Amino acid sequence: MNLQNSINLKRLFLTFVGVISLILLLASCSNSSEPTPSIEIIVPTAITAPETPSTAAAVSSNESTVAATAVPLPTNLLYQFPPMPKALENPLTPQKVELGRQLFFDPVLSVNNEMSCATCHQPEMGFSDGRPVSEARADIPGRNVSTLWNSGYNQYLLWDGRETSLESQAQLPLTLDSEMANDPAELVARLQAIPAYVDLFETAFGSGQPLTFEQITAALSAFQRTLVSENSAYDRYAAGDATALTEQQKRGLALFFSDTTHCSQCHAPPTFASETFRVIGVDSDDPGRAGVRPEGVYGAFNVPTLRNITQTAPYMHDGSFATLPQVVEFYAAGGGRVHDFEYVDPLIKGFTLSTQEKADLVAFLDALTDVSGLPEVPETAVSGLPVQYK
Ligand code: HEC
Ligand code: HEC
Repeated sequence: MNLQNSINLKRLFLTFVGVISLILLLASCSNSSEPTPSIEIIVPTAITAPETPSTAAAVSSNESTVAATAVPLPTNLLYQFPPMPKALENPLTPQKVELGRQLFFDPVLSVNNEMSCATCHQPEMGFSDGRPVSEARADIPGRNVSTLWNSGYNQYLLWDGRETSLESQAQLPLTLDSEMANDPAELVARLQAIPAYVDLFETAFGSGQPLTFEQITAALSAFQRTLVSENSAYDRYAAGDATALTEQQKRGLALFFSDTTHCSQCHAPPTFASETFRVIGVDSDDPGRAGVRPEGVYGAFNVPTLRNITQTAPYMHDGSFATLPQVVEFYAAGGGRVHDFEYVDPLIKGFTLSTQEKADLVAFLDALTDVSGLPEVPETAVSGLPVQYK
């Protein structure tokens, strides 16, 4: 059984558990003359549905409106993860994933043998590096290092969405002067000269084939597709375990999915991302989507995932917010709207929450944490170089 299958099976099982819990839950609180609930209920259209007319009232009123919002039934939250783009063209096998893991942590990939993918994407820091921004690339200002958790699900990669597959994305850090600065042919020759790598490539791609640059990016991508975070307290709650969230997190959940904050309309479950480019108005000189597409809006960025968000501070494309409470304050104040930014998304209009409610919202974000899929870090790289990335 390959990894993709096992991931799918796990998901199927979670869905099954969710549906059963829903039936049990509804059976226990309804009287027996009512019809058996339809499984349709698990399709949570209400959560992502466009704004309702009640929104204006909810936004302009004070916190009591929010407090009155009922916490949705746990199973209303059950979503199916989307299929992973391009995964079929590069099937996940344990051998390829293992090779990818070794490559990911090996500084031999960089021209000076000093930088690995993990230098910037550190597992313990949500695969980011704790710094506001990384070295600037040729044509764009320096940006915050993206998390790699659940990147396999993204249609668009990077803050401006310029890449659409992990395979093509991986070519950038390997070759950019500001990053690993290697040359594809030189890199292939280097790995070809390391017998342990030749063995690993043969196991992953079959023997008798020459080692290629495409195999390097394919293995790295296969490994990254296994960095899945999908069993957070939130997921267990969504699957029917009403005790998985604290009372505070449940209040935060109601706020997150409310017409007061609109958070879930952009950060939509289960990825808590969305494949769209939006202007929230973080103040920087980065053109965002406009830098890569003529029709792109200036200052629009790919809506990032919020899974494992507590691990990846500082926040935003330019790392300008040190903490989650600061991010919430920014949204509460109306985002870039208060700085007269053009084109700020209509969903960003500011809101009034009490101090307690803001803390509840942050507590909910913490419930999106699941790092059980952390990979094992090799003690020494296959090249023999030390694995030092901190
Ligand atoms: C010098 C630091 C650095 C190194 C080394 C590095 N990255 Fe990154 N990575 C970044 C930054 C910064 C971004 C965000 C850049 C942007 O959006 O323009 C990023 C973004 C990504 C993304 C996009 C994730 C998403 O969901 O949008 C992927 C995938 C990725 N890197 C993979 C890799 C791989 C694989 C390697 C090793 C071959 C690597 N990176 C090495 C800094 C680095
Ligand atoms: C209109 C769509 C939209 C809405 C509504 C929205 N966000 Fe965002 N969010 C974004 C975009 C786009 C970014 C990236 C912006 C940037 O980097 O400049 C982002 C970034 C973030 C980040 C930083 C992520 C990271 O990896 O650095 C957090 C945290 C966040 N949002 C939380 C929230 C919360 C909480 C709410 C509700 C109060 C919310 N968002 C509402 C679109 C939205």
